[in-house]
Amino acid sequence: MKFIGRDDKETIFSRFRSHVSSGKADFFKAVGIDFVFGRRQGPFVWDATSSKRLINCHCNGGVFNLGHRHPRIISALKESLEELDIGNHHLVSEMRAALGAKIAALTPGDLSYTVFGVGGGEAIDLAIKLARGHTGRLNVVSAGGGYHGHTGLALATGDARYRDPFGPNPPGFRQVPFDDKAALSAAVDADTAAVIFETIPATYGIPIPQADFYQHARSLCDQSGALLIIDEVQTGLGRTGRMWGIEHFGVVPDIMVIGKGLSGGIYPMAATCFRPALEALFHQNPFIHISTFGGAEVGVPVAMAVLEETARPGFLEHVRELSHTFRAGFAIMKEKHPEILVGLRQLGLMMGIEMVNPQCGPVLTKTLYDHGILSVYANNDTRVSQLLPPLIIDEALAAEILERVDRGLADAKAFLGL
Ligand SMILES: Cc1ncc(COP(=O)(O)O)c(C=O)c1O
Repeated sequence: MKFIGRDDKETIFSRFRSHVSSGKADFFKAVGIDFVFGRRQGPFVWDATSSKRLINCHCNGGVFNLGHRHPRIISALKESLEELDIGNHHLVSEMRAALGAKIAALTPGDLSYTVFGVGGGEAIDLAIKLARGHTGRLNVVSAGGGYHGHTGLALATGDARYRDPFGPNPPGFRQVPFDDKAALSAAVDADTAAVIFETIPATYGIPIPQADFYQHARSLCDQSGALLIIDEVQTGLGRTGRMWGIEHFGVVPDIMVIGKGLSGGIYPMAATCFRPALEALFHQNPFIHISTFGGAEVGVPVAMAVLEETARPGFLEHVRELSHTFRAGFAIMKEKHPEILVGLRQLGLMMGIEMVNPQCGPVLTKTLYDHGILSVYANNDTRVSQLLPPLIIDEALAAEILERVDRGLADAKAFLGL
């Protein structure tokens, strides 16, 4: 291999500590996760300097929905490199036109326009700009514990601990408890530009909202003239067993944001999709929002391949079948480990392992790592460990993940003295 395994672990850690992030290098050493992302294929990733193998159940929140280096995605990029480059972000683009049309055909309702970005935070920023520009209003209501990114307006929707060190929040942002219809009703009024939610808040521990929560949000927005922004960065592209998580709730948002998985794990791509009426803002001034690399042409065939692969017959059925396997497996584990396991929060393969106290998430991250599973606890509710396996795993690997989680839970229980 040309790029992987050239240096030994000590050299990599020392360089990373000196030139990239001293805090991360020290943290991962201290917690015994001295893994260096090495060879990767399908659901697996190997340490660059040893034979340790992990099943990737973190998937960077959905980046690796199709696994690592999916053959179709790799060949899409190879073909695209034969002809394309970044393109020009000001001019009319054949590739972006084709991708915009493809996304319009696959997204709910009349979300027919797309502005492309590089990452989720940028795409959320644009969603909020669009809502403010369209409504002429300032206020944005989001969920406590929610997470939409670390960039400007996305950061402003999130929790104080991520933004307080960087100065006061800009005006107009307000949080309400997630899935609280009364609190949302009280917060939305004639000054509200947008209500923004992740369909299922991942960083907040994958709480599954009540079946009518989004219908309630939709009608509040309709009554007040606010726009409903739905963040599908993690729940989109098949993760929940439907193409888009919001489809489970029978609601069409005004703006929907896609990221992570759209990259195929190969070329960054994010999208802010919206209804035709909102396009008027850009029609008047098409240069009011610019992203040099957003919708880079060379990445378009990759995103196309992701969309085609996810929409192909049988793909979502497979996700739903796997979700039954995990549901049944966790029901058994709940009987076995009642001292630690509260239950599985689940919509398709968007899964959160809910445990009894806030120490459990970090400890399970480590014990699962020791048992060959890469996963991460939910930062804004550390009782929960996120479990996001690639959507392409087979039943045998699902059974293996369950068996490893079983052992990880037993070790976490012992470590915590539960
Ligand atoms: C739900 C959600 N929205 C937005 C973002 C921001 O995406 P990015 O890191 O690509 O800016 C993330 C990232 O984790 C996310 O999980």
